[in-house]
Amino acid sequence: DPVLAELAGGSALDIGFAIAPELLDEPEYRDIVDTHATLVVAENVMKWETTEAAPGEWDFTAADELAAYAQEHGKKLYGHTLVWHSQLPAWVSELDAEAMQAAMEEHVRTQVEHFKGQVVAWDVVNEAIDDNGRRRAESPFQATLGDGYIEDAFRVAHEADPDAQLCYNDYDLEAIGIKSDAVYEMVSDLVERDVPIDCVGFQGHLTAGTLRDDLQENIQRFVDLGLTVRFTEVDVRVHTPASDEDLAQQAKDYASVVTTCLAVEGCLGVTVWGVTDRYSWIPRWFEGYGAALLWDEDYQTKPAFDAVVTAIGAG
Ligand code: G3I
Repeated sequence: DPVLAELAGGSALDIGFAIAPELLDEPEYRDIVDTHATLVVAENVMKWETTEAAPGEWDFTAADELAAYAQEHGKKLYGHTLVWHSQLPAWVSELDAEAMQAAMEEHVRTQVEHFKGQVVAWDVVNEAIDDNGRRRAESPFQATLGDGYIEDAFRVAHEADPDAQLCYNDYDLEAIGIKSDAVYEMVSDLVERDVPIDCVGFQGHLTAGTLRDDLQENIQRFVDLGLTVRFTEVDVRVHTPASDEDLAQQAKDYASVVTTCLAVEGCLGVTVWGVTDRYSWIPRWFEGYGAALLWDEDYQTKPAFDAVVTAIGAG
């Protein structure tokens, strides 16, 4: 098979994969990551519930495993995620405002310092805007601390590692519309007020055949603010069992994402949210959907893999 990391070298595009560190012991999985990735990100093990399950009790065991793997194999390490309402231990949501502010700052500071010099970019704040373009009311940070928690998180992260790129990351931002407009307004305001934000992550959890034609225009407007962008969590779900038509449409969608990123100066890379359909989160969350990644359940490449190869090669 062609090697994505080598092809991408020519266009300086990061090719990332979301990783569960324990799966690196599986030879087929390991071989794909060794060969094709230029960047790795933890699918779960850098989240608050894992790294600080109880106040001040830190556990970086699994995250350090991934960091060590990245270092030994010359892969970039991407940090996901510091401040998010989900996979957040209950003790945080139970705090009053003063204690929650302190806990949030301490969490960001400790985790960013721990990985200082290793993590190239952090998803500092994840999914703070809801589907209607409002601040996410069910986030304990939003509910208890108000809008200001976002810039506070960026400022503390920047103090902890001035060299790390600091990103806002969210889903359903691909098309121009109510949600991406709200994120655009929010990050514009942060940039205007010199909050240390460097990048926006477009997660890219897509359903095959739904990508609109304004993707490039949309990410370009974020780049025009002086930010960089990435596709941070791409998968393209199809109805299962997938037909040949489904897989062909999926391949087109993957190619569109890669081609769009290559077309925008300031789009730094594409990360796929997993390696093999065998372990993808999709079937557990979207009944009747799956087969969203580049390798199937038996570690065979899919048409989407070939489409990514072609798209990178053409870029
Ligand atoms: O770790 C426990 C394990 O101990 C337990 O036995 C098992 C039983 O269900 O659950 C395990 O936890 C699961 C965890 O993934 C680790 O595999 C959770 O149930 C499961 O809910 C969790 O799902 C993750 C999801 O985030 C939760 O929010 C997915 O793997 C992960 O792919 C997904 O990733 C998110 C990004 O972080 C942010 N953007 C959206 C994306 C998709 O939801």
